Amino acid sequence: MSNPDELLRIEGIRKTFPGVVALDGVDFDLRRGEVHVLLGENGAGKSTLIKMLSGAYRPDAGRILVGGEEVRIHGAQDSERLGIATIYQEFNLVPDLTVAENIFLGRQPRRFGMIDRKKMEADAAALLERVGVNVSPRARVRELGIARLQMVEIAKALSLNARVLIMDEPTAVLTSEEVEKLFAIVRALREDGVGIVFITHHLEEIAALGDRVTVIRDGRSVGQVPASTPEDELVRLMVGRSIEQQYPRERPDTGAALLTVEGLTRDGVFHDVSFEVRAGEVVGIAGLVGAGRTEVVRAVFGADPYDRGAVRVAGTQVRRYDVNAAMEAGIGLVPEDRKGQGLVLDASIEENLGLVTMRAATRGGLVDRKGQHAAAAKVADQLRVRMAGLGQHVRTLSGGNQQKVVIGKWLLANTKVLILDEPTRGIDVGAKVEIYQLINELTAAGAAVLMISSDLPEVLGMSDRVLVMAQGRIAGELSADEATQDSVMALAVSTPTTSVNEMEATRGH
Ligand SMILES: Nc1ncnc2c1ncn2[C@@H]1O[C@H](COP(=O)(O)OP(=O)(O)OP(=O)(O)O)[C@@H](O)[C@H]1O
Ligand SMILES: [Mg+2]
Repeated sequence: MSNPDELLRIEGIRKTFPGVVALDGVDFDLRRGEVHVLLGENGAGKSTLIKMLSGAYRPDAGRILVGGEEVRIHGAQDSERLGIATIYQEFNLVPDLTVAENIFLGRQPRRFGMIDRKKMEADAAALLERVGVNVSPRARVRELGIARLQMVEIAKALSLNARVLIMDEPTAVLTSEEVEKLFAIVRALREDGVGIVFITHHLEEIAALGDRVTVIRDGRSVGQVPASTPEDELVRLMVGRSIEQQYPRERPDTGAALLTVEGLTRDGVFHDVSFEVRAGEVVGIAGLVGAGRTEVVRAVFGADPYDRGAVRVAGTQVRRYDVNAAMEAGIGLVPEDRKGQGLVLDASIEENLGLVTMRAATRGGLVDRKGQHAAAAKVADQLRVRMAGLGQHVRTLSGGNQQKVVIGKWLLANTKVLILDEPTRGIDVGAKVEIYQLINELTAAGAAVLMISSDLPEVLGMSDRVLVMAQGRIAGELSADEATQDSVMALAVSTPTTSVNEMEATRGH
């Protein structure tokens, strides 16, 4: 009979969507007290597989066994009853409800038939403390940043006291400090005998946290290896080839300043931020979460107002707080929250890719639909978007492939100044290199790239210059040679009282 430690077994699972075979025979098993990593490229079928366990999808063929018994999981309730809790890649919280209401949605504690708010909020507070996040149970989910949303999702899953916990890229949006907290929680759950299915594109997390790894390629399980397997071996299993160079930055000769930001200030948010990005240059912005990086680039893009300062593109001042003006000037922004700001989920890939260009074309009066189609096809191919066709709705693309579409729409629009806010979040190792190569092509063609990333190796590997922000100010600037993990972190945790420019002014530069 089956192993008494076996919590879950999946045999030969298949799932087809119109035009796509998402899963084509996957085997997987999970034991008590282990972290089993699911590894695979964007679109390999990881999220689809776990949706069979959460009851979101039903398999076309194959078996699912829980505790040695074959089961049918027809919905979230079945899944919960079997002791399975799932944290989805795309969050599942209701924006207008409070944190406590979200955690206990559908299961609110009651007293005399009424929802017992006091108890619900106290229970939520205890869970939030357990995951180590400082957020009020009464806060509206709408007001939370993405990292906190993730922690609320985790608190919610803990409240179910599950035997099987599924986490689909939980660390994609977390800072290294938050990742450590999460790992501590996962390790404690493992000690308690919980089985954890863990999906990640961060290979270094596998050895740090995992026990076993199942690799999925094109909807098939292609291998099961221990988590101690060397990273290059994991990559080879996953993408079917080895990756020579993770950060293939080729630095072209730089030209004149394309983007100039002068003394940008939004009272209470960021102060006297000045920098420039030259044609051909990649400038990275590093800093801790909350340092003001996203706020600054949103202001540069016209999505948020600022109180003082100026933004210029090729010397011409761009109207403040006016996204259209910024786009006309050639500025593009790939936002950190692709679902909220980057995509129209119920439109096709082609429509999404054309969003920026169409807007410009409509204003100019001419829409070249044929040209649009050809250009969209080319970009989708360049980015290797895994799709059934350009007509597929973006909502049904895998997470990493959605991100590629957001980047693709700015590539199509011939953007001069491309701002990338966490561009490779959720992107697999192979596709990352492709995005870096596109950055190379863009800068070789004379564009300027400004890149925010919390992935320090990425900032160090791809930037020609690194700006470090701390507490709403630019704490320092480092050349590619000077920038190291240590020099960046030292500036990131510093307390800049005056900006670099003010310091330079007082030094008499
Ligand atoms: N509802 C759906 N309709 C059509 N196609 C779908 C649907 N859901 C998933 N797919 C397709 O199934 C394939 C597998 O997607 P899945 O989301 O499982 O990938 P993934 O391994 O989780 O990738 P990522 O690392 O990017 O999150 C993709 O080609 C995707 O477009
Ligand atoms: Mg996924």
